[in-house]
Amino acid sequence: MIKFEHVGLRYGIGPEVLSDISFTLAPGSFHFLCGPSGAGKTSLMSLLYLGRRPTRGMVEAFGHNTNLLDRVALSEERRKIGVVFQDFRLLPHMSAFDNVALPLRINDVPEKKIKDHVEELLDWVGLGDSMHRLPPTLSGGQQQRIAVARAVITNPRLLLADEPTGNLDDEIGMKLMGLFEQLNKMGTTIVIATHSLQILERLPHPRLILESGHLKVFDPATSSSVEAAHVV
Ligand SMILES: Nc1ncnc2c1ncn2[C@@H]1O[C@H](COP(=O)(O)OP(=O)(O)O)[C@@H](O)[C@H]1O
Ligand SMILES: [Mg+2]
Repeated sequence: MIKFEHVGLRYGIGPEVLSDISFTLAPGSFHFLCGPSGAGKTSLMSLLYLGRRPTRGMVEAFGHNTNLLDRVALSEERRKIGVVFQDFRLLPHMSAFDNVALPLRINDVPEKKIKDHVEELLDWVGLGDSMHRLPPTLSGGQQQRIAVARAVITNPRLLLADEPTGNLDDEIGMKLMGLFEQLNKMGTTIVIATHSLQILERLPHPRLILESGHLKVFDPATSSSVEAAHVV
């Protein structure tokens, strides 16, 4: 589904924040992305959602070498990806309902269908009573759940979430993880950046571990750790 080959990323003329990263996300897989603050998790996410191009190497998405796609083709591929940003990126002047409905409206889904679907999902994430409020009047945890609902409303093939439980208490955080697990069982490929030891201990998914821009893959199921290729 997604393949990185010797990918590097630098911002401007700064040092590489990601170095020689190679890995593959198989369809239907579920990975955690871990590593200390500043390790490059959000940067790697931005490459995964095709919001940035690598400064070297190759990112393949849904069978296309993204280096060869123009902006229009790239945004077409991006529509297959749902993203929960670390800073939410909700539209502040639109209600919770309208924020979540937006991706469906862009896809011309009929309003009746939108109403049923959005209300059901907002109920599920515990925001049924707040759906007509504006994001700035809601707590960080509530805004985060709107962001999650907006990311999954279109049933994306790939779901990326950058520390999606960071502002949630443990119970709601685990409930959200349950939603991600359910989506994964229905076929969605998932990558979740997280610091939460509670989540990592409870869920035995393979981990992409970033340290100073280098990647290791660790699979608790086999307890094996494979060092990703470094700069030669
Ligand atoms: N837009 C940017 N411009 C310049 N440097 C950046 C930018 N975003 C992140 N960085 C730098 O890249 C490194 C990795 O950051 P980031 O990907 O946000 O890590 P993490 O999400 O793991 O905390 C940090 O040194 C950070 O300062
Ligand atoms: Mg980050």
